[in-house]
Amino acid sequence: MPERVITNDAMEKIVETSDEWITSRTGIRARHHAVEGEYTSTFATAAARLALSRANLKPEDLDLIICATVCPDQALPSTAVLIQSQLGAKKAAAFDLVAACSGFVYGLTVASQFISTGLYQNILVIGVEVLSRYVDFTDRTTCVLFGDGAGAAIVQRSTDANRGVLATRIQSDGDFAPVLYIPGGGTKIPASHDSVDGRQHFIKMKGNELFKVAVRSMEDTARQLLDEQKMTINDIDLFVPHQANQRITDAVAERLGVSLEKVYSNIAHTGNTSAASIPICLDELVESGRLTPGTTLLMTSFGAGVTWGGILMRW
Ligand code: UT7
Repeated sequence: MPERVITNDAMEKIVETSDEWITSRTGIRARHHAVEGEYTSTFATAAARLALSRANLKPEDLDLIICATVCPDQALPSTAVLIQSQLGAKKAAAFDLVAACSGFVYGLTVASQFISTGLYQNILVIGVEVLSRYVDFTDRTTCVLFGDGAGAAIVQRSTDANRGVLATRIQSDGDFAPVLYIPGGGTKIPASHDSVDGRQHFIKMKGNELFKVAVRSMEDTARQLLDEQKMTINDIDLFVPHQANQRITDAVAERLGVSLEKVYSNIAHTGNTSAASIPICLDELVESGRLTPGTTLLMTSFGAGVTWGGILMRW
């Protein structure tokens, strides 16, 4: 896709920051921004087409499309139906799922329930964000962190009893809503000249407070999932946490005692892509041949809400 790569050097020309600060505090060296004419559904549709072709499916085979995003194309209708139309997935039901950075884990969890009940056979789960349209490029505490991207997965019933989702967990705590939010654009503060002048349509974040919750919630989730399956961290082949900050990933990995070669990180070249972060990691792992049938995979996420969760699965 023709999106732009924004390096830390480029960021230095936008806000008062430095490559040294961004790299040492976050591990981020570059992030991608959508260009004019690209938006959430175009990103999502490109990722969906790749997932469909890898699964040897046609759009009309899809029963359900779940689009996890906090960056809809527009307030109404859902981005999921716009993706459905772009794909030509006539048979599918489609809805958006708003769980911020945990959106993909939430989406996979919902999809796996529909597969378990037998209601649906082929479900498309997309994690997609175009956060560059929501960040305030005068706020150095947020604009250096976030990037745009999309990733998608097809969820189907496994014919091999040893493969598939082993355990899932999703949680939230709305008391933390004021820690990461966009005040304007909804029913509470509808768009107005005042709301625009007051920069109410941009992301506001108390990064410090979120950091601690992130580490604790991802560690707890991982332990709960492993305990539930009577497994230990040594049974895991790959640990894929939400990519928010390299220091968060390192802290969670250290607390869990997972060896570093099992921890996947791509934040250096993606930044924090929210709901897209885990599926982009999965795509890179598949492409590089590290994620193959039988791999035991642990994914954990957290994000605005706060929401958090995890999935333990055998690929
Ligand atoms: O996906 C979920 C969403 N978000 C997150 O997970 C974010 C979690 N939090 C974090 O990743 C980190 O808290 C941040 C990367 C956001 C911030 O790192 P920090 O080590 O917690 O820094 P801080 O907020 O305590 O700020 C330290 C200093 C401040 O200056 P003073 O007050 O000490 O003089 C900031 O003004 O760093 C300053 N600062 C910057 N300096 C240069 C903040 N942003 C920047 C910047 N460039 N971009």
